[in-house]
Amino acid sequence: MIKYKAGDARAKRGSRSTGLYVAFGVVVGVYVLLHAVRLVLFAGPRPEPQPTALSDFMVRSVIRDVIPMADGKLEVRVAVEIDDLLKIMGDLYSADADEDLLPLNVSYVMHNPRLCADAPSLKYIVYLHSAPGNSERRDLVRQTWGNRRLLKNENSRAVFLVGLPKDNKTQEKLRAEFSQYGDIVQGNFHDDYRNLTLKGIMGLKWISTYCAHAQYALKSDDDAFVNIFALLGVMTANADKKRLIACVNYRDGSMPILRYPRQCYKWCIKYRELIGRRGYPEYCAGVAFLLSREMVSEMYAASLKTPFFWVDDAYVSGLLPAKVSGVERVALNTHFTLSGGAAYDDYVNPDTKEFRYYFVHGVSDKQRVLMWTALLRKLNETHKALLSDDVITKSTQLLKQYMMEKNKLPRVR
Ligand SMILES: *[C@@H]1O[C@H](CO)[C@@H](O)[C@H](O)[C@H]1NC(C)=O
Ligand SMILES: *[C@@H]1O[C@H](CO)[C@@H](O)[C@H](O)[C@H]1NC(C)=O
Ligand SMILES: *[C@@H]1O[C@H](CO)[C@@H](O)[C@H](O)[C@H]1NC(C)=O
Ligand SMILES: *[C@@H]1O[C@H](CO)[C@@H](O)[C@H](O)[C@H]1NC(C)=O
Repeated sequence: MIKYKAGDARAKRGSRSTGLYVAFGVVVGVYVLLHAVRLVLFAGPRPEPQPTALSDFMVRSVIRDVIPMADGKLEVRVAVEIDDLLKIMGDLYSADADEDLLPLNVSYVMHNPRLCADAPSLKYIVYLHSAPGNSERRDLVRQTWGNRRLLKNENSRAVFLVGLPKDNKTQEKLRAEFSQYGDIVQGNFHDDYRNLTLKGIMGLKWISTYCAHAQYALKSDDDAFVNIFALLGVMTANADKKRLIACVNYRDGSMPILRYPRQCYKWCIKYRELIGRRGYPEYCAGVAFLLSREMVSEMYAASLKTPFFWVDDAYVSGLLPAKVSGVERVALNTHFTLSGGAAYDDYVNPDTKEFRYYFVHGVSDKQRVLMWTALLRKLNETHKALLSDDVITKSTQLLKQYMMEKNKLPRVR
């Protein structure tokens, strides 16, 4: 058992270290306070009592002295960095903490309410997070795995979700692109990584309003690659599940919440966000998740009563489904790798018989084109029979075009 003690008359080491001892006293105070706040605000089951350590605060600390006491305890004197302390206190008391606020009611700057209307039997809609300026990436998706005319007998759609760009020129270009394709939904929020949750909610809202008859919705990103044929298999294999989420699934608590500035860079979670948790609730990797129709509308409904949290994957695929009952999660973790290079190699390797990875990210535009053509080349007869007639021809043209322009494109790895 370790007993912490703040100042002591014996500590004649100058005012700085006395200051540090006082600071440490404040840390302990803050810690007690944190616990109190957690008891009040953490509504779920009480967490297991955890051994408390200074590392809980993520403060840089140095043990200055360890003194055995008569009662068998140890008195430990610790110096902590004042910056860390201020950070904890700043987080605790900062006025800009936006937890407990419900998400903004997003309205559309532009969207096409007819996008799904002319496809009464819609198998799936892909909704992709995109940025206003990413027109080339959107084109690539339109011409490859997100092609709405990919399949002969099954209808599909793709829609790109964007926020507001910083400049008018981008907005003008986006408007032109929208009038050409009609597959963009723009929300009235700034396009910023801190607003991705709004984008995710907008997708659920838009689909439940204008594309509610689609059997499945697939969330992805404009720089991701999805083996859509494999996903058709996932849909078939799980057709009995009414509330399906199929994805690279992170189990409850398996992803640590990063709160210490040196660990988390721009993804730092404040002490007041997800209070009482060391790990995220069960959620999906953002690269792609497949939702059945019921899930889309029920997750949107849940967003109306789920306080905003800016990490979109955790919010949309974690906190929202947690409020829906009867959710059936299907983990596709063996079909994903963090190494885009390894996935790319698997696709373009002539010896690959069956593609292992369903979702790929971290590859260049050109690599995605090459993966797509490799995928089409190796489709088996069942899958080939699903394709519209001109898909293979068009993809071959796309490949040629990329090869010709390759000097303009990002280098392959
Ligand atoms: C969002 O705003 C629209 C239009 O302003 C309104 O009709 C709708 O009821 C609002 N939705 C919610 C959930 O507040
Ligand atoms: C952008 O457009 C808005 C209104 O459409 C206008 O007020 C503003 O001056 C424009 N900004 C630039 C930099 O052109
Ligand atoms: C998110 O969007 C809202 C609405 O446009 C805006 O007020 C806010 O500043 C945005 N957040 C960031 C971090 O850009
Ligand atoms: C094609 O592949 C799919 C999925 O791997 C499989 O279900 C189907 O039976 C295969 N068809 C043929 C003709 O091999």
